[in-house]
Order: sequence, then structure tokens, then C-alpha cells
Amino acid sequence: MKTLTITKPDDWHLHVRTGAILQTVMPHTARQFARAIIMPNLKPPVTSVAQALSYREEILQAVPGDLDFTPLMTLYLTGSTTVEEIKKAVGSEHIHAFKLYPAGATTNSDSGVADIKAIYPLLAAMERHDIPLLVHGEVTDEACDIFDRERAFVDTYLTDITRDFPGLRVVVEHVTTIEAVQFVQDAGANIAATITPQHLLFNRNAILAGGIRPHHYCLPIIKRESHRLALVKAATSGNPKFFLGTDSAPHLTSLKENACGCAGCYSAHAALELYSEAFERADALDKLEGFASFYGADFYRLPRNTGTVTLEKTTWTVPPVYGENGLSITPLKANEELCWQLK
Ligand code: NCD
Ligand code: ZN
Repeated sequence: MKTLTITKPDDWHLHVRTGAILQTVMPHTARQFARAIIMPNLKPPVTSVAQALSYREEILQAVPGDLDFTPLMTLYLTGSTTVEEIKKAVGSEHIHAFKLYPAGATTNSDSGVADIKAIYPLLAAMERHDIPLLVHGEVTDEACDIFDRERAFVDTYLTDITRDFPGLRVVVEHVTTIEAVQFVQDAGANIAATITPQHLLFNRNAILAGGIRPHHYCLPIIKRESHRLALVKAATSGNPKFFLGTDSAPHLTSLKENACGCAGCYSAHAALELYSEAFERADALDKLEGFASFYGADFYRLPRNTGTVTLEKTTWTVPPVYGENGLSITPLKANEELCWQLK
């Protein structure tokens, strides 16, 4: 049987929530990854080092005893974040970045930043103390077409931020467009990007053609085929600026299959399988290890992992849902076949 063995990978963009959802999803991620950057968009958001450390304990409690997993915590930037909190975060070995959500851009972003210029003193402090800024790169202007919101963010805010803080390390999270890929490629070595499995595998037809498919709805929204091709090219190029970030976002099935379904795709159950499929289709399986296991660690200045994981070329069917006791999370590719399986 064909197999693929790579250094144990990390997930550089992950949502795990709390409580029963956390209990359901944590075993999936801990099986696949050694570490993950944990997104802070809880309700209420994780804005202080103290909150992040207690959230970290809750996550560790949800990791099955036979698995080794390290959560890498982040803080949510708001208009009220202080330079003092940034210094505290820099001083904590468990906090690795700050996340910038433009207010209203995505799930649980109400506390996000309404005026990016108003947080310039915070960005200056982050640049000075060399802690990365993770960006949800979409404008929230209602007049801006939803398919253009990332490009508009790149043209305005991102260009400004990287010009005004040339030393700041920035991850443009979940890039979805040719323009964002181009921006990251042309920028300095301190600017990187994560790419999700859904943006590598699907174009926008997967949301809208032949019926509306809420489980393919995430933000930034999946774009047209030419953008998908640019993302595949970037991910499989061997350029260390592009690395794995699933953006796996567990939402209850009932909130996705809804007249106003929420944004986010759950992919932690089969993250490596999904990426392997995308890389194999591009005839670039040899590039998966750098993307999944090396470049993110190098960017965050963490040691590369030592163990390995092995995937087998074998067909299996993704279950319709995950969860117990009435909790139901519909995974990406539910009821569909995958051609790789993690051993
Ligand atoms: C994420 C979530 O559900 O937390 N949703 C999504 O569509 N990606 C938030 C985010 O990363 O935008
Ligand atoms: Zn996310």
C-alpha cells in the first residue's frame, strides 16, 4: 500500500471553543498535530494573559491521555488592549501572537477592532517586542461585495500596516485570493500566510451550485477557480511563507443548517487527509512536509517537531456527524470518501 510519512505537523490556525464542543474536537486535532495556534474568538473573547492561561488548562484537560499536544495561545486585540498586556504576553512562554479581527468580519468578531489606525500604538509595541500579528484580512464595509472583501483589505489596511511597521511579523490568515498570495510573496520575510484545506479543494461552486451547501460556507468566503489555483500553487511551491492553518471551526449542525447559517468549516477530523488530497492532485506530495511541518514552526521561531505521522492511500467514508449526547458537528466531506487515511 502506498504510504506517506512526514514529520509530525502543526496547525497554525485552529478554533476549538470550550465545554462539550472542545471535548468533541480536541481528540481529532491532537491525533493529527503536535501543536496548534488556538484562536481567541470565544464569547467573551480571550483578551488577557490570565484568560489565555486558564483556557490553555481547559484545552489540556480535553487532550486524551495517550496523546501529546501543546496549545499555542493567542490574545484577541480590541480597542481596549493595553501596551502593558502586550508586554505581559511577550513575557509568557505560552502566548505566541495577537489576533486582529476587524469588528464584524466573522464569527464572534463583535469585540474586534473598528478603527485600525486607533490601535497603531499597539502595533508599534508588538513590532518593538517582536510578537506576531495574525490578521483576519477582510474589510467589513457593507458596500463591499463579499467576494472582494479580502482584496480590499490587502489594498488598504494590509499595505498600510506592513509599510508603517516594517519589522512587524504578520500572518495573513486563511488567504483566499490571488491578490493576497501575491501580496505575501512580494512582501518581506516577516510576512507569511496560512492556507485552509477547503480553499485548496473547493471553489465557490461548492457553496452555490446544485443547491446551497452551508457546510462549505466559511469566511473569508471560498472564491472562484482561478483563486483556488493560485492558492494550490502557493501551498505547493515550497515557499516557506505559506504554511498549514486549517481554520477548523466547529459549529453545531443546527446552526449551520439554518436560514442564517454561521461561517466556518469543521476539518480537524481529517485535516491531513484533506491536505494530502489537494497536494496529490497537484502532483506535489513531496512539498507537503515543508508546508505542514516546517515553515510554520520556523516563522514562529519554535523548534520543528521530532516524531512522524504516516498516511496510507486507502479509501474511507467520513461519518455524517461527530459528537455525543445530542451534540452534532457536521464535518467537511461528511458522507463522502477520502483517499488518504492517517494511521
Ligand atoms: C471562524 C469561526 O467560526 O470561529 N469562522 C470562519 O468562517 N472561518 C472564524 C474565522 O476564522 O473567521
Ligand atoms: Zn479562523
